[in-house]
Amino acid sequence: MNKRENWKSRVGLILATAGNAVGLGNILRFPSKAALYGGGAFMVPYFIAFFLMGLPLMIIEWIIGKYAGKHGHGSMTGILGLFFKHASWARVLGSFGVAIPLLICMYYIYIESWTLGFAFLSLFQKMPIPMISDNPQEAVKPYVEFFRAYTNPSITAYTFLIITLAINWLILQRGIVKGIELTAKIGMPAIILFGILLGFIALSSRDWAGLEGLKFIYNLNFSGIKDPKVWIEASGQIFFTLSLGMGAIAVYASYVKKREDVVKAGLWTAGINEFIEVVIGASIAIPAAFAMFSAVAIPELAKEGTFRLGFMTMPAVLMNFPLGWLISFIWFLLLFLAALTSSLALTQPLIALFEDEMKWSHTKSVTVSMILITIGAHLSAFVPNFIDEIDFWAGCVMLLLFGLIEIIVFVWIFGINNFYNELIQNTSLKIPKAFVYVIAFVSPVFIVLITYFWVIKDFTSIILVSEPTKIFARIFLLFIILFLSIIAVKSRKIVLKDLRYLKVITK
Ligand code: ALA
Repeated sequence: MNKRENWKSRVGLILATAGNAVGLGNILRFPSKAALYGGGAFMVPYFIAFFLMGLPLMIIEWIIGKYAGKHGHGSMTGILGLFFKHASWARVLGSFGVAIPLLICMYYIYIESWTLGFAFLSLFQKMPIPMISDNPQEAVKPYVEFFRAYTNPSITAYTFLIITLAINWLILQRGIVKGIELTAKIGMPAIILFGILLGFIALSSRDWAGLEGLKFIYNLNFSGIKDPKVWIEASGQIFFTLSLGMGAIAVYASYVKKREDVVKAGLWTAGINEFIEVVIGASIAIPAAFAMFSAVAIPELAKEGTFRLGFMTMPAVLMNFPLGWLISFIWFLLLFLAALTSSLALTQPLIALFEDEMKWSHTKSVTVSMILITIGAHLSAFVPNFIDEIDFWAGCVMLLLFGLIEIIVFVWIFGINNFYNELIQNTSLKIPKAFVYVIAFVSPVFIVLITYFWVIKDFTSIILVSEPTKIFARIFLLFIILFLSIIAVKSRKIVLKDLRYLKVITK
């Protein structure tokens, strides 16, 4: 049997899980969504979703992850199996919790490779010369063309994809402590430092004109409260940014030491993530764009999507600063480090599945996982619409549904009292039982409503597609779920044999 690793230190554990959560979601996705949905109007549903759904699910994933780790499981296949005596249906249901991070990672890692590529292109001063213009569309144009040529994909883009895959492979091969924990110990302080530096540059530019951008985000108001779309997007952002419903937090929690206070660790993870999102993330892209262009231009620019803001608008703004190439380099390096610490976490559930359930060696588990990711990353690079389609299904719909499954299984079926006992056993904090009732009743209602508005209401327009590439992406998604379900059923025998063996030797 493989010996499961433990995080070496508490600081390492906190930095690793913060790195797990902090990613492109904080620095790119958050400002784009906030700008698109009215700044302060977006923030009200955002904070409500954080407290009613994000925080409770974060605690659930930590508690369950630790509990499962004690029994030798880290992937959702094994975790759900554990709750139902390893019944095949439960393990198959758990496979969705491995499919989600795997599918997200397949395109996430490709975007991560753009950030590395753009960092080097900035450093070697190969980015387009900035155009001086008050018209944002004019100013951004050279960068739009540059981005399109790069992601065509160009040879440079392909080279950086291979380099990014190799970096992830190498780190994961080194394991939990020497790989993931060490990367987080270096990466997280750098992310915070670069983030603060860029935030300062953005806010102070043009005689602190950037502050207007921060005011736009924090002008809290209730104008979006009746718009279901704002609620949907705000809640989707909470899931994505905190890495919830992906099994990614639970797998990290499964490697904690016996005495670890996981409730505190969960609060730290959520706290650091939110600091990097609503303080640092809010202070860079939007204020920089505000300082450079007029306020009216911001929602217009944000409308064109998350990538537009990060890879086109931001370089157009940053390259205008003195030593613009260096600032642009720091921006893309910040994005790369944030993405790297998250892509490691998105791959780990699959590695844990192979190690814990199939009892494969670490090297074999990492190799097979990375081959799958490499195939998916190539599809993301070469098949049009693949990224958007997978992002919608795995990165939005499946996340929410799996979040709901987690609450039903771990709180309702496990039992409110059992869950509460598990909760207080794992922390020195005094947690009122009312908190469990919020988890049990308020969070699921929230998720059901969101899913209703998001998916059911527009069901036909979402389901019916005619583009062959989108159909291909869906078939691929089903293929991954099928593949993981087969593994879940096949490995059941191995796990049961192991359990019988353990019973014999402990008798
Ligand atoms: N939580 C990760 C992010 O924000 C996936 O990018």
